[in-house]
Amino acid sequence: MQTKTRQNLITQIRGYSVNGTTAMSDAVFTNPVTAYASSERLQLEKQTLFRDYPILMAMSCQLANAGDYLTEDFSGTPLLLVRQKNGDLSGFINACAHRGAPVAQGAGTRGSGFTCPYHAWSYELDGRLRNIPGEEGFTCINRDDYGLKPIPVIEKYGMVWAIPNPSINPAPVDIDTYLGDLAAEYASYEFAGYHHFATQILEPKINWKMAVDGFLESYHLSVLHPKTVSPLYFTNRSTADGFNLNHRMVAVRKSFDKVDEDAELEKDFLLHTNILYTLFPNTMFVYQRDHLEIWRMFPDGDDPSRCKMVLSMYTPEAVTGDSAQRHWENNLRLALDTVEAEDLMLGEKIQRGYQSGAQEFVTYGRNEPALAHFHASLNKALSLEGSIEVKIG
Ligand code: FES
Ligand SMILES: [Fe+2]
Repeated sequence: MQTKTRQNLITQIRGYSVNGTTAMSDAVFTNPVTAYASSERLQLEKQTLFRDYPILMAMSCQLANAGDYLTEDFSGTPLLLVRQKNGDLSGFINACAHRGAPVAQGAGTRGSGFTCPYHAWSYELDGRLRNIPGEEGFTCINRDDYGLKPIPVIEKYGMVWAIPNPSINPAPVDIDTYLGDLAAEYASYEFAGYHHFATQILEPKINWKMAVDGFLESYHLSVLHPKTVSPLYFTNRSTADGFNLNHRMVAVRKSFDKVDEDAELEKDFLLHTNILYTLFPNTMFVYQRDHLEIWRMFPDGDDPSRCKMVLSMYTPEAVTGDSAQRHWENNLRLALDTVEAEDLMLGEKIQRGYQSGAQEFVTYGRNEPALAHFHASLNKALSLEGSIEVKIG
């Protein structure tokens, strides 16, 4: 993060501390409960957000070398990302041009390309069709039409995005336009050198947006997390800044107020805060003191009350040795346990209430500006009402 940004945030947080307040939006924001409970709304989100927008897929370290690949179906489209011999990243629909079987499974390294498990058609790393066994059965086809279907992949700042729609190719905007001023902020980090520690998946019975919402206000900390998060973080005290459809919220550790010198806070900003970026549409990119937690939320099938939360943890240094391994395993377990036992336990009850039809609207207070920004951004992307600019002061 740039020095000037850190200084501005420190000034803001000092002000909130003196006045006992938090970042506020200009107005209360109401959102129909159908946003979380309707099948039609979910279909629109799946067709638009999870097809046409850049979805954060991985960090560059997960595809470091030529031939490294990963596959993923969470967006609803089977995807394959591959590091090419020239260092570029390519993305494809993971479906064989013959009769559609996925040509790659899981993740790994496959320097020699991919062979389909159904009839063994094989493909080069760059998606070109290499070989058709029993080729005499396919004499009249043009092999150039039978490569893997490419999709746009964007790699920058040690991060990898894909747009899961082969008819949008190349990407319509560059990622910096999309990130706005956050681009410079990400450029100031050194995430390209990070290491993937582990990925875990939760499958709560809640709408995928409620899983995002859980990160977007510090108002609930002392009530829902009295023993876990609340001893460490201030309740109802955080900053909020929108960057196009994306957002940055800084949650404040209680240690922040114990530091008198701004210069010290500037130097140790991450020790006293937790930076939560909402990377539109579905990612919470959480920069903690000494690691990254990336939570990606996806609808699970066609049921608006089910989702998948995919948590990946990354560390600045490779984790080697038993005690470091145990340390990070505990860290990951703690993050999952708190979210599962506290946020999701309540979330599933809330979702049942939403499905009941009892309540027409939910209300995001002025002190919950990140929620208003997220849902206003969704409305904008989906061309729904309520896509007004959320002013945060
Ligand atoms: S579906 Fe891939 S070889 Fe037949
Ligand atoms: Fe929470």
